[in-house]
Amino acid sequence: MNNFENKKILLIICGGISAYKSLEIIRMLKKQGAKIKTILTKSAKEFITPLSVASLSQEKVYDDLFSHENEAEMDHISLSRWSDVILVAPATANTLSKLSAGSSEDLASTVILASNKEVFLVPAMNVRMWEHPSTKENLKKLKNFGYQIIGPDVGDMACGEYGQGKMTEPKEIVDIIKQYFFNLKKNNKFKALVTAGPTHEYIDPVRYISNRSSGKQGYEIAKSLKKNGFETTLVTGPTKLEPISGINQINVNTAEEMFNAVLDNLPADVAIFSAAVSDFKIKNKEKFKIKKKESMNLNLEKNIDILSHISNHNSLRPKMVVGFAAETNNLNEYAKKKLSEKNCDWIIANDVSDTTIGFGSDFNEVSIFYKNMKYEKLPKMKKSLLAESIVKKIISELN
Ligand code: CTP
Repeated sequence: MNNFENKKILLIICGGISAYKSLEIIRMLKKQGAKIKTILTKSAKEFITPLSVASLSQEKVYDDLFSHENEAEMDHISLSRWSDVILVAPATANTLSKLSAGSSEDLASTVILASNKEVFLVPAMNVRMWEHPSTKENLKKLKNFGYQIIGPDVGDMACGEYGQGKMTEPKEIVDIIKQYFFNLKKNNKFKALVTAGPTHEYIDPVRYISNRSSGKQGYEIAKSLKKNGFETTLVTGPTKLEPISGINQINVNTAEEMFNAVLDNLPADVAIFSAAVSDFKIKNKEKFKIKKKESMNLNLEKNIDILSHISNHNSLRPKMVVGFAAETNNLNEYAKKKLSEKNCDWIIANDVSDTTIGFGSDFNEVSIFYKNMKYEKLPKMKKSLLAESIVKKIISELN
């Protein structure tokens, strides 16, 4: 089976006793049609020879960061752009440490730092090294950077000790990469639209009313949709977050601008409305800055409900519409009411009275209310992980 036909995999082999398993990975990937380029770190060459890697991959093996030969043929940036995915196997404790620090001292770390592709790290090391707090800390950072971690497994180690630290078996690694490509292919027929962040409703040119929202949860959902192969548009109000590469990001200020951007980017297969849209706008926005005075009344009028408008629209409604509800009390009752009133497929509700989660935090705790009025309470977790689990559920619903 040519599961990897036309797939380009950059395999980075680091210096560990399990480096020999990487030869098996190359053999399996080649057999299934992959194109493989390899980088051997300096210490990897103590464990396996460049000649054996070159013979199996049928490609030149890269090592030095800047060599005339490397740079003329394929420089470090082109090497990272060439690949569809980067696989680091084995990833030693030293490599994890370098990557978590954003180091670019050799070709392997430079290529990963410069990469805009999915990176899979396969850690392998002695159990004590794996359990060391610094390795744990590095791993936490690497997960936050969005790297995928495979393993390590528990078992007997080459050093004679027993525990977690064994490199995952080649077949399992190859299966995970296969699944990654399979998901991308399956989902790239889907178009997703996400709204995120607050809106600013201007009182005058310098003042506005708004809602509390960091935009983090919506950005994480957009990131995860993109990672899973969706053609993704993110319509976002003002946030401090970095743009996500590879998605169509539209920056807006007001609810009206958000509404127009949403209309411009439909149809979509799924729309996730996570923005904290201001329910009101100023009726007569002042053209010039209002000068200080003893008191002032604001004349507010209702903004259009973007979610409600789209989900109740005959022709514009995406197959799947997901709304959010931030509540301080009666969460279940209000969430169910919103689900039916706004004609959503799901409402993702969180209790914003708990200040350790939700607004601005990296963590969230939500319940998902489904159309059939059933609901599921998810445990407190990082917004990035919650996004992945929401997207997994969306994929299974759409398929
Ligand atoms: N929403 C929207 N457009 C608006 C208002 C809300 O698209 N003008 C969407 C939000 O993105 C979110 C959901 O609707 O998905 C939130 O519902 P909303 O009615 O705004 O909640 P609250 O304002 O909290 O409602 P209430 O004040 O009745 O609790």
